[in-house]
Amino acid sequence: MLDKLNEIKEIALNQIKAAKDSKTLEEIKIKFLGKKGEITSLLKLLGSLSAEEKPKFGALVNDVRNFIETELDKFFAEIKNRELNEKFLQEKVDITLPGRPQKIGVRHPIRIVLDQIEEIFIGMGFDIEEGPEIDTDFNNFKAMNFQDDHPARDSQDTFYINESVLFRTHTSPIQARTMQKMAPNPVRVICPGRAFRRDDIDATHSVQFHQVEGLLIDKNVKFSDLIGILQLFAQKMFGEHMKIRLRPSFFPFTEPSAEVDVSCIFCGGKGCSFCKHSGWLEILGAGAVHPNVLKTGGYDPEIYSGWAFGMGAERIALLKYQINDIRLTFENDVRFLKQFR
Ligand code: DAH
Repeated sequence: MLDKLNEIKEIALNQIKAAKDSKTLEEIKIKFLGKKGEITSLLKLLGSLSAEEKPKFGALVNDVRNFIETELDKFFAEIKNRELNEKFLQEKVDITLPGRPQKIGVRHPIRIVLDQIEEIFIGMGFDIEEGPEIDTDFNNFKAMNFQDDHPARDSQDTFYINESVLFRTHTSPIQARTMQKMAPNPVRVICPGRAFRRDDIDATHSVQFHQVEGLLIDKNVKFSDLIGILQLFAQKMFGEHMKIRLRPSFFPFTEPSAEVDVSCIFCGGKGCSFCKHSGWLEILGAGAVHPNVLKTGGYDPEIYSGWAFGMGAERIALLKYQINDIRLTFENDVRFLKQFR
């Protein structure tokens, strides 16, 4: 019996010393100390011994067991340590490698223009109002005083979702929404946003574009206030020397209405091929808010008056950066986009 014990002890020790990795050690542990292991089966033999031999033999077996356990622990720690060091070596980071430069994004030219417009009007005390790109026929047309048979309602121009819901064709429905929200309080807002129209895409036409709407409602609002604001806007946007000119026009939602030109930013008004030798470039539509629009918005046109304007952000960006094709603004070619700061 004693020989057997010593033999087990020796075999275990040899195997432990020969083990190359923690997995093998784990197997050795199971083989000797596990439930069906050699030591455990020796302990099972205790039952067949005399009362005298039992404690002696039991103690011996326990000694061997403790010995194997201690050796296993010792080698375990050693091997684990070695394995960890090997892993560290494998996963070593070469801190001498040069870094990869991160590309820094730039603002889209349309975003730059929108930011500038917003900044100019915020500086004049305007708030920003936004509205959903998908709106009702009511807000887009009816509230803006379009007759039921107005040609702009034609499905040629409008992306309808159903009879009463559509992709807004301009930012003017934000006027309607703002009035519904604010009436009868004064309003002084600009409303930047995207608009959509059914159109054949070419160098000057797109099915989606950006507009900035302006709306001011209060008591005693005069048309001359509008002219003053637009004059200041043109100077801040294009330069101190800028002049504006108003030409009579028509919009359902304003009366009277005007189209507004700025002096040609290329020739300064002398006349060039860009302004078709007129010296002027059209940049926006404007007018006094139509009494019907005020009424639908919840304002009494006898007490309140207002003015509004609408400009296309693409038009201004194309002029400002001398871009000759509107498609460049939505094709997202990085070579184009990275030219603007
Ligand atoms: N909604 C017009 C358009 O899409 C632009 C416009 C013109 C807006 C005159 C206005 C305005 O608020 O007063 O062409």
